[in-house]
Amino acid sequence: SSNGSGEKERTLGMIKPDGISGNYTDRIKQVILESGFEISKEMVIQLDEENAAEFYAEHSSRSFFTNLIRYMTSGPVLVMVLEKEDAVARWRDLIGPTDAGKAKISHPHSIRAMCGVDLEKNCVHGSDSHQSAKREIAFFFKEAPSDDAVGKHDEL
Ligand code: PPS
Repeated sequence: SSNGSGEKERTLGMIKPDGISGNYTDRIKQVILESGFEISKEMVIQLDEENAAEFYAEHSSRSFFTNLIRYMTSGPVLVMVLEKEDAVARWRDLIGPTDAGKAKISHPHSIRAMCGVDLEKNCVHGSDSHQSAKREIAFFFKEAPSDDAVGKHDEL
């Protein structure tokens, strides 16, 4: 929820393999910018089984986990840090319900209605809380310690 301070907040947005292969990247970015988000960082990455499983670790006991990992490693994804006031909630609003098939009926203007297919091939991801956003942004964009910090550490 909004902290009411008018300050920008960060969330992790991702265009999943079906979004990339279906050539939806430009259209999705257009919606993001028209909705007032700033894309402050972005990166295209091919997930392997190990890092996909780590990213989705909270779902590891679910029946769909194997399918989810196969799907998320089937091609490159585009990860983005999205900034805006109340970004976590606003990005979830914009992408629509998890099941893209249902989104087409209940949220026809959502991103998942535009480019997703079903519960698995739902085209985009968004952090579900501030806590998740922090973890997920660090997962993809954590900066290596500077030479300076390494040097200081070595002297201890
Ligand atoms: S939860 O915890 O029950 O609310 O899970 P949910 O938010 O519905 O889904 C979590 C992520 O798992 C994906 N998912 C699936 N993938 C493949 N097959 C099935 N049946 C399936 N059900 C859920 C779903 O797309 C969510 O991915 P993210 O990237 O978090 O949107």
